[in-house]
Amino acid sequence: MLKNCLQHPIYKIVGTVADEMGVRAFAVGGVVRDLLLGRHATDIDIVCVGSGIELATRVAHSIDPNKEVAVYKNFGTAMFHYRYNDTDWQIEFVGARKESYRSNSRKPIVENGTLADDQNRRDFTINAMAISLNADTYGELTDPFGGIADLNNGIIRTPLDPDITFSDDPLRMMRAIRFASQLNFVIENNTFDAIAKNKERIRIVSKERIADELNKIVLSPKPSVGFKMLSRSGLLSIIFPEFEALKGVETVGTRAHKDNFLHTLEVTDNISQHTDDLWLRWAALLHDIGKPATKRYDEKIGWTFHGHEVRGAKMVKGIFRNLKLPQNEKMRYVEKLVLLHLRPIILAESIVTDSAVRRLLFDAGDDIDDLMLLCEADITSKNQQKVERFRNNFKIVRQKLIDLEERDRIRNFQPPVSGEDIMRTFDLPPCKEIGTIKDAIKEAILEGIIPNEREAALQLMFDEAAKLGLKRTENE
Ligand code: CTP
Repeated sequence: MLKNCLQHPIYKIVGTVADEMGVRAFAVGGVVRDLLLGRHATDIDIVCVGSGIELATRVAHSIDPNKEVAVYKNFGTAMFHYRYNDTDWQIEFVGARKESYRSNSRKPIVENGTLADDQNRRDFTINAMAISLNADTYGELTDPFGGIADLNNGIIRTPLDPDITFSDDPLRMMRAIRFASQLNFVIENNTFDAIAKNKERIRIVSKERIADELNKIVLSPKPSVGFKMLSRSGLLSIIFPEFEALKGVETVGTRAHKDNFLHTLEVTDNISQHTDDLWLRWAALLHDIGKPATKRYDEKIGWTFHGHEVRGAKMVKGIFRNLKLPQNEKMRYVEKLVLLHLRPIILAESIVTDSAVRRLLFDAGDDIDDLMLLCEADITSKNQQKVERFRNNFKIVRQKLIDLEERDRIRNFQPPVSGEDIMRTFDLPPCKEIGTIKDAIKEAILEGIIPNEREAALQLMFDEAAKLGLKRTENE
């Protein structure tokens, strides 16, 4: 009996209206899983053995005669929003159905069915449970495939032959791995083998849906769990080959480089302990993506990846395009972090000068804190002494960042003397001398030769102009 789980008032209302209509109604699928796990959910799926649309309309009417209901006749579903506990809940209704699939499409042929039919068509045992809402059986769980046991044991398993479940709807292969990653569950062997077997069918799934699942894996507590499964099943090479290419260790003589796949996942797991920002996590995933393309072996120094940050930053756009991730400022943010990811490390390796920190602040701007997080997450050396040294230097870099930011305000650098100022003072048309003077001022500020202030910058402007043989206009 799960009466106590059913805190939300909608369950009682649905039960009452279903009783009036003489139909059976159940909370079903993901919401039941999340109720049992004590996870927060804001979507409630209701299935009724009868018309889901009619039940939705009547329930909405009993809450508020003017309540809007979105009806999707083609799908036999209806949905409305319901505010409760300061949260917007989405309540979806569907009639119990039986589905059959054809080989070339994720769209099933749908017929009316029983609750059992409806549970049979669902993806995983943990997603196929239903809780009755009618008064006589309120709170009773129907769990035909041992979903509770799988929840308790942390197992993802399909209710029917996994070959059929995945072949019917190949997106479920991504969902299996996504749930495993979100919940830190394992995928039962037969189910996992069927993913490997059916991996090619992922190609019939739209890239947007794949990206949704991939992002959920990226946002899971330990993204490495999902990425390792994606790789092991063979899905990763199909959906994101650049990431799969990070895998492997090459050895020449006794010299091996580290496995960049495992290193990247370690960095991503590290950063995930400090941020839930999807794009910062993507920056961690992609920070070394340029390594396979820049890998060289040099007799004197061993393995090198020179310029991998530049190559990697250039790859971001194509990867985002292929994965149907946004081509906007989020992508540019990831590009920027990939490009700059070595900079704080380089600082932390040597003596930290003010001017180097100022330059970092200038290049990173408002993303400096994220860049520092990424770099700290990137320290995965097994050599504890080295890690300690880096950490200490990082503390110095952070302190300097704070001090210099207060003093010099470099983060959102606006030149204290503008191109307009220079043109007006020396009566110049747009020309390259303006750029030369502006650069000299910027350089002097970054090097700490002059403070980031207008008076000092104007003085330097006159000095630089004199060097270029420019004369001040009469009326200035
Ligand atoms: N479902 C399915 N196959 C899919 C998608 C969904 O069988 N490809 C079923 C599952 O029973 C699932 C329910 O529909 O629990 C609701 O799906 P959805 O809202 O997409 O996912 P949830 O399981 O609720 O999980 P999440 O909200 O985290 O996506």
